[in-house]
Amino acid sequence: DQYVVDILTVVNGVPQQWRVDTRTTLLEALRDTAGLTGTKRGCDQGACGACTVHVDGNRVLSCLMLAAQADGRTVTTVEGLAGELGLHPLQEAFLRHDAFQCGFCTPGQLMSAACLLREPGRTRSDADIREYMSGNLCRCGAYDNIVAAIRDVAAQQAEDGA
Ligand code: FES
Ligand code: FES
Repeated sequence: DQYVVDILTVVNGVPQQWRVDTRTTLLEALRDTAGLTGTKRGCDQGACGACTVHVDGNRVLSCLMLAAQADGRTVTTVEGLAGELGLHPLQEAFLRHDAFQCGFCTPGQLMSAACLLREPGRTRSDADIREYMSGNLCRCGAYDNIVAAIRDVAAQQAEDGA
């Protein structure tokens, strides 16, 4: 079948082999083929950020990327964010700051924020944080608490690094 491709990718540290339609998005492959439903389908057209994952460490909207483009690359989803020692500091901060209501946007918020924390120069002010996170919409309007949670972890990181 000319529309079927075999893909080898590593998702959350686990090698995966997918046989998917060439038109399958990375979001569909993650949710439907790999069963990783933590990554959410909001708009399916690049406008809401709910589907944010990391590909080779960079933030990507998985609804806009084809699964075939993940061939030979490393993908991290929200299921892979926590470490062996427990929740990621961002997850703990989101809990502490009540940074979600329905939780639908949360996986995307977390994955975006995790990328942001790798760029300490961009967390100097709330405005900087809001700017970086502006592609992640929250219908519940939890923005203030989301920013507070990220600010908290960024400050902790700065302290640890000092
Ligand atoms: Fe991908 Fe909305 S589902 S940006
Ligand atoms: Fe409901 Fe953000 S917590 S959409």
